[in-house]
Amino acid sequence: MNKITVNMIVNRKPVTVEIEPYARLLDVLRKDLKLTGAKEGCGIGECGACTVIIDGETVDSCLTLAASCEGKSIETIEGVADGDKLHPVQEAFVEHNAMQCGFCIPGLVLSGKNILDKYPEADRERIVEAISGNLCRCTGYKQVVDAIEDAKDKLND
Ligand code: FES
Ligand code: FES
Repeated sequence: MNKITVNMIVNRKPVTVEIEPYARLLDVLRKDLKLTGAKEGCGIGECGACTVIIDGETVDSCLTLAASCEGKSIETIEGVADGDKLHPVQEAFVEHNAMQCGFCIPGLVLSGKNILDKYPEADRERIVEAISGNLCRCTGYKQVVDAIEDAKDKLND
């Protein structure tokens, strides 16, 4: 099958990829662009390990055709820190020990960051809802929600 050209903004930089029309965004990010922060857990939209932000909304990149991202802005975990400076949500995950194996963490951080971007005053219930599509098999969720609430407070200081 002929490849197609897709132009996207990834982590604030324009990129052009030549891909199969059926390529998943997750594979394009990981294989073509070498951005391996988004993980493949289930591959069927159930675990959230592949979460990225597209035009301000969290999506499962395993269920997203890269071809549908023409002209869109994509944020992955690799774009969250500012150089060597972690984003407050990342810092809070470290401070709260909100991780064990780390497999789910890129998705959880992106979901946490995105809810605070959209709702800077998000309450605990809204934060819990925002991460409800991100499954963690080892840490549990209390530290994660505590971390996102803490980041909210710091961002609003
Ligand atoms: S790998 Fe995409 S939701 Fe699980
Ligand atoms: S820290 Fe291991 S799956 Fe979440």
